[in-house]
Amino acid sequence: MAEEAREDLRHHGDAELLDAEVPIRHDFAVNVRVKEPPRWLRDRLAEGLETLAAYPDARAATEAVAERHGRTPDEVLLTSGAAEAFVLLARVLRPRRALVVHPQFTEPEAALRGAGHAVERHILTGDFTLDSEKVPTGPDLVMLGNPTNPTSVLHPASAIESLRGAGRTVVVDEAFIDGIPGETESLAGHPDIVVIRSLTKTWGLAGLRVGYVLAPAPIVRALKEVQPLWSVSSLALIAARAVCDPDAVAEAEALAKQADQDRDHLLARLAEVPGLVVPAASRAPFVLVRAPDAVRIRARLRAEGIAVRRGDTFPGLGPEWLRVAVRDRAATDLLVDRWHQLTEAVR
Ligand SMILES: Cc1ncc(COP(=O)(O)O)c(C=O)c1O
Repeated sequence: MAEEAREDLRHHGDAELLDAEVPIRHDFAVNVRVKEPPRWLRDRLAEGLETLAAYPDARAATEAVAERHGRTPDEVLLTSGAAEAFVLLARVLRPRRALVVHPQFTEPEAALRGAGHAVERHILTGDFTLDSEKVPTGPDLVMLGNPTNPTSVLHPASAIESLRGAGRTVVVDEAFIDGIPGETESLAGHPDIVVIRSLTKTWGLAGLRVGYVLAPAPIVRALKEVQPLWSVSSLALIAARAVCDPDAVAEAEALAKQADQDRDHLLARLAEVPGLVVPAASRAPFVLVRAPDAVRIRARLRAEGIAVRRGDTFPGLGPEWLRVAVRDRAATDLLVDRWHQLTEAVR
């Protein structure tokens, strides 16, 4: 179909850092929120090096995750990042009709297609809020992200709950929800919604590959059947256990509150740029921006070692869209000052 050919479902923020003519020194493209994992977490991982002669044992991490979310261990599966969870679900679920709510992270759709499923799309427009009444009732699998990458919208849990129906599986990618103070709208404790979580963003662990699925026990059992043996490394399991400690949960909460303030600053500064619009109520640690000269701005910034993420690889968006990661005030000022100058230069 023409629409599919236009998009590259496998393009992600990290690709924006590759093959630049000048090295990228200011990265607003990748959504990992910290430059490196916190010292205490690196120490725990370093201690774990001693255990590497043994095969991974996921039991303690599984119990810790279950306790953190008020689930039972048989409702938890540790995975090699959220990315593995999408692939496992696509292999195990046998939807007659699969629907993905877009614009959103493209790997869920890529995984479904990779497993041979046809995928229907429900494309949100305007301010990208979810009106569950408008979501087609026919599909027996619905996948969406909350908060949604790249729109930054946080859908009410009640809107997602109302997508449930007899014989339908609802899967919510909550990879960014630990960036929301109080994790409001999380469905991690919901008995029959499938929730995917990731440690990548908040803890700076993109390279470790660790996340998990919370789902009814029969689904977890089926996922385990197809998961490669020892898929999640011992170090990843150590991290999963560590970030469930109450101190770590409190640290994530403080980071989320800081991100709220940093995002407010980014939004206030972006509002100064002529022609630039942020249509969504942004709640995540990134902001989706519409700018008439987005293609030129992205290229000019890139030539100066500043990366922002193109939006046109997301279904439903076009070349005038860019996604900008929330960073600290100094980094934001550097980006927006330059953006402003580049915009003024052609007016
Ligand atoms: C919304 C969303 N979900 C999941 C992922 C993948 O997470 P992980 O690194 O745990 O595979 C990403 C990565 O960019 C993402 O943006």
